[in-house]
Amino acid sequence: MRVMKDPAEVGEYVGMLRRNRITCGFVPTMGALHAGHAALIERSVQENDRTVVSVYVNPLQFGAGEDLATYPRTLDADVALCAELHADVVFAPSVKAMQPPGRVTVVTVRGVSDDFEGAQRAGHFDGVATIVARLFNVVRPDRAYFGQKDYQQTVVVRRMVADLAFPLDVVVCPIVRDPDGLALSSRNRYLSPEERVVALRLPRALESAEMLVLAGECDGAAIRAHMAAKLTPADSSDAPDSADAVERDGIDADVEYAEIVDPMTLTPIERLTGHAVLLAVLRVGTTRLLDNRIVAPPGTPAWER
Ligand code: PAF
Repeated sequence: MRVMKDPAEVGEYVGMLRRNRITCGFVPTMGALHAGHAALIERSVQENDRTVVSVYVNPLQFGAGEDLATYPRTLDADVALCAELHADVVFAPSVKAMQPPGRVTVVTVRGVSDDFEGAQRAGHFDGVATIVARLFNVVRPDRAYFGQKDYQQTVVVRRMVADLAFPLDVVVCPIVRDPDGLALSSRNRYLSPEERVVALRLPRALESAEMLVLAGECDGAAIRAHMAAKLTPADSSDAPDSADAVERDGIDADVEYAEIVDPMTLTPIERLTGHAVLLAVLRVGTTRLLDNRIVAPPGTPAWER
């Protein structure tokens, strides 16, 4: 496996692949790789002749006061994992290589970027779309792999790929969870053991809302209210005793949003008639935790994305 820092070197490599009709899968990451990333890399290795993994902590997608300076940077461990998983190239460019002097172009995906993460983190999706577009142009993959965990990001990237006619398929892979249900995230390492107990409210609330949908509830307001109740400390009926104790001891947990939305447009759903996405963010201490779940009323045919 090779580590490349220069976009021109990656360009030469993928040029050789294209000339020889060798397919290329691409997994864009910000490093600090965990089992969620490993699942994306494994899928790419299965479906393509070669796999490129990028490791780049993208300053453009961090807002003022966010964790850019402290975001975990673990390149040696990331490279070792990529080698173990049979990726072919780790592309780890410098900020200068990704943000050339004089850069003024910004990719804005309007509408689907505006709410939820876009509303909480001004400029976040412009930063994501601008850097992902640049990465796509350097790597020129046949397929690009993203995790469902960042659901809104997958919608933004798909829209950009369709609107700008990038010649590639976007593949969205299922969320990988720890055995206790918490969705894997590079930011989970910020949680203290006590905060982690409180964090479990998030996957449990979404699972509970899915049960409600499967029991026949189709009213968007009722589903929203159910999630909100399960996420707030006042409703601790399904939480273990230890979680109650921790909250009494003053762990600060705040529901930023808990919504049921259309899976393509992200507009709130009033009456559920087909597939929908439960989107929620719980801030525990200083850590924002995202999670989501795709739901549908009983009997809905499978959804081909
Ligand atoms: O999901 C991420 O890790 C980042 O948003 C991405 C897609 C690598 C762009 O910087």
